[in-house]
Amino acid sequence: MEIEIIEIPKIENSLGNIAVVENDVIPFDIKRVYYLYDIPSSSIRGGHSHKNLQQVLIAISGSFDVVLKDGFSTTTITLNKPDKGLLIKNNTWRELENFSSGAVCLVLASTVYNEGDYIRDFDEFLESKK
Ligand code: TYD
Repeated sequence: MEIEIIEIPKIENSLGNIAVVENDVIPFDIKRVYYLYDIPSSSIRGGHSHKNLQQVLIAISGSFDVVLKDGFSTTTITLNKPDKGLLIKNNTWRELENFSSGAVCLVLASTVYNEGDYIRDFDEFLESKK
């Protein structure tokens, strides 16, 4: 599976760093921003795909693993850097797990929330890939 990591431009100095997300580094227009926080380390989140939504995930604090499935292969990516974004295209199954203490997952999304865009059943996801 092709994995696309987006480098978030940053301004670094001894006083601390700034990472700046402008629309031109993201391969879609950002319509929604949300973040996962206060996540118990035993949580497994996600467990769905999206018909149209694309997302970029950034571990702005701590770390977690993202398991991606395209119906043929499975790839696990550890996100643990605030200047790296993982692009998740539509029609990709994802699970988020192994959250560290204090992990915060920032999500940049290409559409507003629409429950009708989700596929939450793995067999239905596999069927949709045929
Ligand atoms: P979900 O996307 O399934 O969470 P995750 O993939 O992180 O495990 O969303 C969990 C619940 O929150 C679900 O009932 C839908 C709701 N929700 C919204 O109402 N708006 C949103 O923008 C998001 C992301 C979720």
